[in-house]
Amino acid sequence: MTNPLWTIILAAGQGSRLARETGGARKQFLHHEGRPLYWRSVATMAAVPGLAGVVVVFPAPELDERTRELNLLKDTSPVGVPVLAVAGGERRQDSVRLGLAALPIGCGRVLVHDSARPFFSPALVQTLLEALADGIDGVIPGMPVTDTVKHVEDDTVVSTMRRDSLRAVQTPQLFPAALLRRVHERALAESWEVTDDASMVELAGGTVRVVPGEAANLKITNPEDLRMLASPTPAPVPCTGFGYDVHAYGGTRPMVLGGMPIAGAPLVKAHSDGDVLLHALCDAILGCLGLGDIGEHFPDSDEKFDNISSAVLLSEVMDKARRMGLTITHVDLTVIAQTPRLSPHKAGIRSNVARLMELADQQVNVKATTEEHLGFTGRKEGIKAVAVVTAARTPA
Ligand code: CTP
Ligand code: MG
Repeated sequence: MTNPLWTIILAAGQGSRLARETGGARKQFLHHEGRPLYWRSVATMAAVPGLAGVVVVFPAPELDERTRELNLLKDTSPVGVPVLAVAGGERRQDSVRLGLAALPIGCGRVLVHDSARPFFSPALVQTLLEALADGIDGVIPGMPVTDTVKHVEDDTVVSTMRRDSLRAVQTPQLFPAALLRRVHERALAESWEVTDDASMVELAGGTVRVVPGEAANLKITNPEDLRMLASPTPAPVPCTGFGYDVHAYGGTRPMVLGGMPIAGAPLVKAHSDGDVLLHALCDAILGCLGLGDIGEHFPDSDEKFDNISSAVLLSEVMDKARRMGLTITHVDLTVIAQTPRLSPHKAGIRSNVARLMELADQQVNVKATTEEHLGFTGRKEGIKAVAVVTAARTPA
């Protein structure tokens, strides 16, 4: 490979601005998506085509322990390039210098990246690589500044910067490796203090080019930045439940549909109050919950359900639904019967079902149909109902 590309991932800082919030834990080692945060930068870098290897710089006192952790991560999630670990120094620039010392002699270009910026993309690195040309000593990502920036001394404004010429600079920063090594040696010899590597190259008279940075490539620095690491609240998952129920005529129970008595209708055979519509509805809700059917929850064989109001069964099923994080968005109900005529009852049933489920009337639809004298409903031997419930379930 000509001009091999390596990256130094800096993870040797103290995270002192965050320490109080994290109980002393350093930000680069906080767990994010099950892994220490610095690993995210390693994995993103490894996705850059042509990358030859990674050097991770850890705090010197815990180099052994962190190297063991790194080796475990390399085994469980292989990244396909060498990943080395070295001890860092007191200041950021010391850690970079020690990282540079670990690069192979033949390394041509080096990316220096703060592991405190876990959210950059491989595309950003690609942009940096494309901008490194002859006569360019460094390429860095920069964002336009939206605040007006003032130079202040002793709480008094000295001057105001021209905003359109300002950039807030990010990492990764890309340099010819030999040049960055030379510049770091000079910085050590001449006691330069800088906050990024590009500053050193600038002080040495080099040309640094800026490419557009990424808005998501923020540095976790202060306690409020920890929000960036919080896992997003799980999105509700849409679900649909279907229910079906039949009751025979010729029984002893006066007909009830959707909790509404239907005067003059055939008597139905039932263990409970025989509300075929609410039974189909309960089954549809249980369908959304993945909880089987109404017979499993309220068995016919149990005395306590004898002639029980189906509205009570519905309220128990609704309680389960609420406890399991189900939000019902719509209910579509169809009653199939040759007799009685249901059109006068549809509006009343709709409102009553909506009330029982704590929904708005518009979220409930009630239809009625015959089967054109066909089948058992057509022969007026019984009644059936189907229900479809649409809902959203928030994962626990
Ligand atoms: N860093 C490093 N070695 C140091 C200091 C900093 O490797 N001696 C790394 C940090 O781990 C971080 C990056 O440089 O990934 C940028 O530094 P900064 O955001 O300042 O992190 P910390 O120095 O850890 O935080 P603080 O300044 O709040 O102590
Ligand atoms: Mg620092």
